[in-house]
Amino acid sequence: MRKPIIAGNWKMNKTLAEAVDFAKEVKGAVPSNDAVDSVIGSPALFLASLAEELKGSDVKIAAQNAYWENTGAFTGENSPAAIADLGVQYVIIGHSERREYFHETDADINKKAKAIFANGMTPILCCGESLETYEAGQTAEWIEGQITAGLEGLTDEQVSNLVIAYEPIWAIGTGKSADATIADEICGVVRQTVEKIYGETVAQAVRIQYGGSVNPENIAEYMAKENVDGALVGGASLVPASFLALLEAVK
Ligand code: G3P
Repeated sequence: MRKPIIAGNWKMNKTLAEAVDFAKEVKGAVPSNDAVDSVIGSPALFLASLAEELKGSDVKIAAQNAYWENTGAFTGENSPAAIADLGVQYVIIGHSERREYFHETDADINKKAKAIFANGMTPILCCGESLETYEAGQTAEWIEGQITAGLEGLTDEQVSNLVIAYEPIWAIGTGKSADATIADEICGVVRQTVEKIYGETVAQAVRIQYGGSVNPENIAEYMAKENVDGALVGGASLVPASFLALLEAVK
C-alpha cells in the first residue's frame, strides 16, 4: 500500500509573514502522517522559518529547487546540503516552469536527484508534456523519455523512495485539469517506465502524483485511480482552508 502524498507548491508567492501564518494555521490541523504525507513546497527564503515553526508537527517541507553541488562558486544557487540542514525533507525538481523559463535539462534534473538523495532528502521529480505534444498523441513517448533520463543511474532503493509528479503543462494554472482517466493512464505510463528499468517491486513502491488544476472538489476523483498516489497542487494550496480540505479529502 502506497501512502498518499499531497504537496502544495506555493511557487513564487507569499511573504515571510504570510508563510509563517500559514504554517501556524495548518500545523495542528493536518491529518496524521500515518494516513497521508502533507507537504508544503515553499520558496527557499522561508524554509528556515517554516522548519522552525513546523518542528514536531505532521507537516513536511519541500524546497522548490536545489543545485547539485554542496558548496562552491555558484552565485545565487542553494546547496542541497544547506537545505537538508534546515530540516527540509523534499525537493521539487524538474517542474515545467523551471524547464521552460530556466532551461533546465533532463541531465540537470538527474544530477539534482542524485544530490538530493545524497543529502538524505527525497526528490519530487516532475514530468509533463506540452499541449502540442498532447494533441499530437505523443504524450506516452515524451513522458517515458523524461522519466528514463531523469532516473539515470539511481539505485533501486532510491527509486522506491522517489516521488514523481505528472503535470501536463496545459493543465497547470489554467483551470483545465486533465480528466482523471487521462491522469491515471499517464501516471500508469510513468509506472510502466519505472518497471521496465527497475522491475515490478520498485514500480509498485514509487509514488506518483498528478498535478494541474487540482482542487478540493476534484481531488477525490484522482485519488480513486489506481496509479495516482497523490497530488502536487499550486493555486489551491495557497490558502490554509483549501490546503486542509485537500488533505481531508484524501485521508
Ligand atoms: O506544481 C503544481 C502545479 O504546477 C499545478 O499548479 O495551480 O494548476 O494547481 P495549479
